[in-house]
Amino acid sequence: MMDWTDRHCRVFHRLMTRRARLYTEMLTTGAIIHGDRARLLGYDASEHPVALQLGGSNPLDLATSAKIGEDFGYDEINLNVGCPSDRVKDGRFGACLMAEPKLVADGVAAMKRAVKIPVTVKCRIGIDDQDPEAALDALAHGVIAAGSDALIVHARKAWLNGLSPKENRDIPPLDYDRVYRLKAALPDVPVIINGGIASIAEAKEHLRHVDGVMLGRAAYQEPWRLLGVDAELFGAVAPHATMQSAFAAMMPYIERALAGGTRLHSITRHFVGAFHGVPGARAFRRHLAEKGVKAGAGADVLREAIALVDERATAPMAA
Ligand SMILES: Cc1cc2nc3c(=O)[nH]c(=O)nc-3n(C[C@H](O)[C@H](O)[C@H](O)COP(=O)(O)O)c2cc1C
Repeated sequence: MMDWTDRHCRVFHRLMTRRARLYTEMLTTGAIIHGDRARLLGYDASEHPVALQLGGSNPLDLATSAKIGEDFGYDEINLNVGCPSDRVKDGRFGACLMAEPKLVADGVAAMKRAVKIPVTVKCRIGIDDQDPEAALDALAHGVIAAGSDALIVHARKAWLNGLSPKENRDIPPLDYDRVYRLKAALPDVPVIINGGIASIAEAKEHLRHVDGVMLGRAAYQEPWRLLGVDAELFGAVAPHATMQSAFAAMMPYIERALAGGTRLHSITRHFVGAFHGVPGARAFRRHLAEKGVKAGAGADVLREAIALVDERATAPMAA
């Protein structure tokens, strides 16, 4: 998620679930081809399986960027056909591509020719006054014919005229049934649903209709929910029973990052929701907000913040 997630956040989330697939924020083909690749694409080996999300529409640039991503070791290339921001619209990528299914399919075909790893598409159910039945079918059938290995569908339209990106994540109504119908029509294609899914319990409900569930804001704002993913959704052992235990496992990574010049706050900013609902959560947040932002702040600031949380408190599991 642009401006929210980054590699530090993904390391943190990976400690809570070994099984969930993690996605980068959208990176444009222009940035990947012309920018500082090590900074943009570098990640920690612990993050696997991790997908690189691309923003772009020029098939050649998409193919070049996908190959760069594959060479960096990403496990999947995902194309963004859902981002509604003006910046993105002007560049002819993101959600406005829902109106250009042929161009998206050409991009997918070009990426499939360039890489061996899976290529997937994340889209909306339509934009503006499009009919979601026709618009989603056109996009989905086009990219599947071009070789897309899965579809992730944010189950609402994007309204490109008049709404901010934030409003476009809340105001257009959710239509989960539209995504369920897509899955029913495409039994052989993995369909992953996204949008407004607030808990593991809700995710389980969706899994009766589709192959996968993607969590955005719930995962970021209440990361403790991820502690329940492996046990509840994959029938596997949870890597950590508590946030305290996950943080203990994260300390060596944090020490390494600090030694490499990363500021503590760049990492701890992702921890705001870590102890949601647990006694001491507010003191934890305040300590990080006050002490963690100072230049030279070390890992001890995080240790002190964790010590303010009730030791017996276990993060509520997958509520
Ligand atoms: C701050 C922010 C940044 C986002 N950036 C991206 C992005 O880079 N790529 C993307 O596919 N979706 C992005 N999204 C959308 C989410 O991935 C997701 O589709 C949307 O928030 C709905 O799912 P949710 O209700 O689980 O959050 C972003 C969402 C937020 C809140």
